[in-house]
Amino acid sequence: MRTDQPVQIRLEDYRPPAFQVETVDLKFRLEPSATRVTARLAIRRQGDADAPLVLDGVRLKLRSIAVDGAPLGPHAYVLTDETLTIPNAPDAFTLETEVEIDPQANTALEGLYMSGGRFCTQCEAEGFRKITYFPDRPDVLARYSVRIEADKAAYPRLLSNGNLTDQGELPDGRHFAAWTDPFPKPCYLFALVAGELDELADSFVVMTGREVQLRIYVDPGQSARAAYAMDALKRSMRFDETAFGREYDLDLFMIVAVRDFNFGAMENKGLNIFNSSLLLADADTATDEDYERIESVVAHEYFHNWTGDRITCRDWFQLCLKEGLTVFRDQSFSAQERGAAVQRIKDVRLLRARQFPEDAGPLAHPVRPSSYAKIDNFYTATIYEKGAEIIRMLATLVGDQAFGAGMDLYFERWDGTATTVEAFVACFAETSGRDLAPFMRWYEQAGTPEVRIEAVYDAAAQALDLTLRQATAPTPGQPDKLPLPMPVALGLLDLDGRPLSFVAPGADTASDRAVLTLDKAETRVRLEQVASLPVLSAFRGFSAPVKLSTDAPAPDAYVLLAADPDLFNRWEAGQSLARALILARASGAPDEVSEVRFADALGRAMQDQSADDAFKALLLQLPSEADLALEMAPNADPTLIHEARDGLRTRIAVHLSELLTRLHGEMQSDETFTPDARSAGRRALRNAVLAMLVADPHAANVERAHGHFAAAANMTDAMGGLNALSQLGGAGFEAALARFYDRWQAEPLVVDKWFAVQARAAAEDTLARVAELTAHPAFDPRTPNRFRALVSNFALNNPVRFHAGDGAGYRFLADQILAVDAYNPGMAARLVSPLGEFRLYRPDLAREMRRELGRIAAHPRLSKNVAELVGKALDD
Ligand code: TRP
Ligand code: ZN
Repeated sequence: MRTDQPVQIRLEDYRPPAFQVETVDLKFRLEPSATRVTARLAIRRQGDADAPLVLDGVRLKLRSIAVDGAPLGPHAYVLTDETLTIPNAPDAFTLETEVEIDPQANTALEGLYMSGGRFCTQCEAEGFRKITYFPDRPDVLARYSVRIEADKAAYPRLLSNGNLTDQGELPDGRHFAAWTDPFPKPCYLFALVAGELDELADSFVVMTGREVQLRIYVDPGQSARAAYAMDALKRSMRFDETAFGREYDLDLFMIVAVRDFNFGAMENKGLNIFNSSLLLADADTATDEDYERIESVVAHEYFHNWTGDRITCRDWFQLCLKEGLTVFRDQSFSAQERGAAVQRIKDVRLLRARQFPEDAGPLAHPVRPSSYAKIDNFYTATIYEKGAEIIRMLATLVGDQAFGAGMDLYFERWDGTATTVEAFVACFAETSGRDLAPFMRWYEQAGTPEVRIEAVYDAAAQALDLTLRQATAPTPGQPDKLPLPMPVALGLLDLDGRPLSFVAPGADTASDRAVLTLDKAETRVRLEQVASLPVLSAFRGFSAPVKLSTDAPAPDAYVLLAADPDLFNRWEAGQSLARALILARASGAPDEVSEVRFADALGRAMQDQSADDAFKALLLQLPSEADLALEMAPNADPTLIHEARDGLRTRIAVHLSELLTRLHGEMQSDETFTPDARSAGRRALRNAVLAMLVADPHAANVERAHGHFAAAANMTDAMGGLNALSQLGGAGFEAALARFYDRWQAEPLVVDKWFAVQARAAAEDTLARVAELTAHPAFDPRTPNRFRALVSNFALNNPVRFHAGDGAGYRFLADQILAVDAYNPGMAARLVSPLGEFRLYRPDLAREMRRELGRIAAHPRLSKNVAELVGKALDD
């Protein structure tokens, strides 16, 4: 079916702006439903002498307009719903406009809006045009000064980017603050916050000795809960200095937490704005996972100061230039803080759960797309997560030294500019002396490459012959794929699990590891001086984002699971064994002998004294149902997958009953809660053990789950207990839910968890329950956190109930998308992808999914956001 698609913007049509804006003076007179914004722009022509000046502006009431102080008559400019055009603009002039906007009515949470009685902004990607008339594109860099006026009692704090330069009283109980940001920036980094906020203050001495003031602003009474974010901020600042040589540039760095936010957080220059769920934490209300995410998002937004703010994107096609690189940087930080192997496993798990399905479906797009209708639709796992993988490969390919030098060169050469992916990659070509032109394909080509490795051991020659092949399946608009250059980190073990040395091609000495490059469709490699039959450990540390298959015999995976010095591949061996066992069950041929062998291997791994608890917790978690669906595609059956996965879990729980019970008991701790990695690892393992135990729901295990929940002295353990009880369902779960709600109903972030655990429950009546919960007094679909906790969680994290055989889950989601689209298109659009994955599923399910996409497409008033995604999904 071809559907009408909104107009596409193309990378090849990029032209530099006809006018630059040198300075921006903004004045806000804040009123909830009638805010006045005056903008004085110093504009200079830089292109074509007869080009008109075209400014973006959406939902603005223009009250006055003047050029160099002279009001413009109605014939001197042209207004449309989305633009203001001045046909005969001078070459250098001052444009002054005054507009009126209505923040109170702004339900899309883009531009200037209200959250909990406070004013706040979200301008990325194209929200600034909802504040004032402006060339809303990232390659227009200007210096901003901002004056904010508001009622003093209602809005005691008035914040914007940069440094506070003035403040004072005004008549009628009003006051003002003036801010100046010395660094030129694109308008998407503009921010303003006004309201009643508590402050947590600290300071940081940067590596050159200057003291920077740090401030975190939160809802009144919440500042103690910002302490962990402050700590994470200081660690991030230090990390950027030691790992990347980058120090903070302004004298003040501020973070504000708001409850209503479409995304995680935003890197506005000097004034980051955070979703409160990614900032506030204490032992009672936040889990270890919350702490971990706070740490990584605080780092992410802080790191944007250099990769995003100081150096920004020339156009939105280059989004990965800041996002992929900044994710790479936050992953490196988390690896240092939390352990490299554990972090790597979590990052890869996320990539597989979110990016691989995207790459396998109708919404597949390159890390640098070549066209879009709404750029908001491209804040995807592909841009972020695969974008980070590309940087990681680049670092592996050119080596640490050339990578570090390339980063330095990038910062030095492009500071203060808006640039491109080519300019970035060229830095590494220069510092490494390599031709990276073929590497650019990673940015241009969508789809996950499939790599197959075949190995033949020649005992007489003591050589291992490897054949590596790669292929990428077609994706929409890209029928033919080229081979990609990728690093293949590998090593050998002998059959007893000892490292086995070899001589790699081009190496002069033997080693037990090497990094090869696969850059053709097929490459043959001979490893020499291999003393005995080897076990191959390939793509160590997940050295490239591919789907790997090998001809290795199954027992090899047991050697790797027990002994691979690369912990990522140790975990991966466990996952691939589990995957095969679950798929065997799903196909009706369970392999009992192997299941017991697998359970035994897991049991041994649990008793490995040298491994840390966080790693063991990951080993104990079987591949997700979404992961397995991808493996079973194109005929994935979520019900079979769920039952098969549960079946294997039960087998493990029964077989390891004694060990798991003992571990669960021994690991109970009375220590006071600290969020450090070691304590968190211990809690994660104990919770994973409990989750496994309840797969064998005999009375003692049920009792154990209740005890775990009842005795919990922190939110991590409480949620561990509640999740286990949700697997058991029934009256026990209901009672626990009721107690939990009773205790936490005044804490919005905890109530979100209460909704989420119900949305994820595998019980048969979950869809009915979720539908019912949409009428719960605490459910508010206009608050993204609450909406996501219930609806998105159901669609994304509960495959067995979302993919109900009768299509009821799909109908529910489509209804939600249509309802939300009417007031918050950005949030609605993010719900389309679960329906877009129809290619993976059983034909009858796929048909229902497409039917619901069709029903959405037929709706008379769709946002561009939803129309683009639904149209693309249906065109496939
Ligand atoms: N740049 C932000 C980040 O990754 C992303 C972001 C925040 C965003 N708010 C948004 C993207 C709203 C689109 C729309 O850190
Ligand atoms: Zn980002």
